[in-house]
Amino acid sequence: MSPLPYAIEMPPARYFKRIGIRGLRAKDAAPLRALLTENRSWLQPWEATYPSGGGAVPGSQPLGPMVRALNRQRRQGAGVAFVMLYDDEVVGQLSLSDISGGALRSASIGYWVSQHVAGRGVTPTSVALAIDYAFTELRLHRIEICIRPENIASLRVVEKLGLRFEGRREKYIHIDGKWCDHDTFAVTAEEVPEGMLARFGAPNT
Ligand SMILES: CC(C)(COP(=O)(O)OP(=O)(O)OC[C@H]1O[C@@H](n2cnc3c(N)ncnc32)[C@H](O)[C@@H]1OP(=O)(O)O)[C@@H](O)C(=O)NCCC(=O)NCCS
Repeated sequence: MSPLPYAIEMPPARYFKRIGIRGLRAKDAAPLRALLTENRSWLQPWEATYPSGGGAVPGSQPLGPMVRALNRQRRQGAGVAFVMLYDDEVVGQLSLSDISGGALRSASIGYWVSQHVAGRGVTPTSVALAIDYAFTELRLHRIEICIRPENIASLRVVEKLGLRFEGRREKYIHIDGKWCDHDTFAVTAEEVPEGMLARFGAPNT
C-alpha cells in the first residue's frame, strides 16, 4: 500500500499533565543520542538488528542522518517521528511508521523511554496522545503495535490502553541478533469514539 498522498506537517506538541509528545526536530539529535548511549543495556534486548549482521548499537552513531530520514518520510506521508516529553524534558522516542493510505489508512507505533522515567506512565500516555493525533489529524483508521511476548513492560502498555490482541507473527522482526516472534495489538477509530486518551484516563501521571 502507498503512503498518504500528501506531506504531513510537523506535529505540534500535545500534552496530558506532565507528559507530552511533539514532532522530532534536528535539535533533538544530540540529546537523543546521549539518552540512547546512557540507556544502551536497557534498550539493546529490544533493538532491531540487520539479519546480515551488525546493526544498531544504541547511541553508537550520530543521529542527524536518522532525524533527516524520518522527516523525509513525514514529508512523503509515510511516517511521523515524535519525541516523548516528561516535564518538557526529552525522555524517549515514539514513531508512527508504515503509514498506508488508500483503503487501509493504517500505521504501526513503536517506542522506547529512558530507564530513569520508566514506570511513570510516560509511554502509555504518549501512545494515547499519538493515537488521537493519528485518528483526528491524519484521519487514519487503524493503529497496530507489535511486541515480543517476552517484553512484559511493553505488554503492560497495550494492556493499560486496552488494545485488542490480534495474534502472533512468528519470527517477524530481527531483534538483538535473531528473528523474534511478535504479538500484534490493534485499535480502530470506531473502538475509541471518545478518543484514546479519554478512554485511558492516564491514571499514573
Ligand atoms: C516498554 C516501555 C516503553 C514502557 O514504558 P513506560 O513509560 O515505563 O510504561 P509504564 O510506565 O506504563 O510501565 C509499564 C511497565 O513497566 C514496568 N516497570 C515499572 N517501573 C519500572 C522500572 N523502574 N524499570 C523497569 N520496568 C518498570 C512495570 O511492569 C510497568 O507496568 P505496571 O505499571 O503495571 O507496574 C519501557 O519499559 C522501555 O522503553 N523499554 C525498553 C524498550 C522497549 O521495550 N521498547 C518497546 C518495544 S515493543
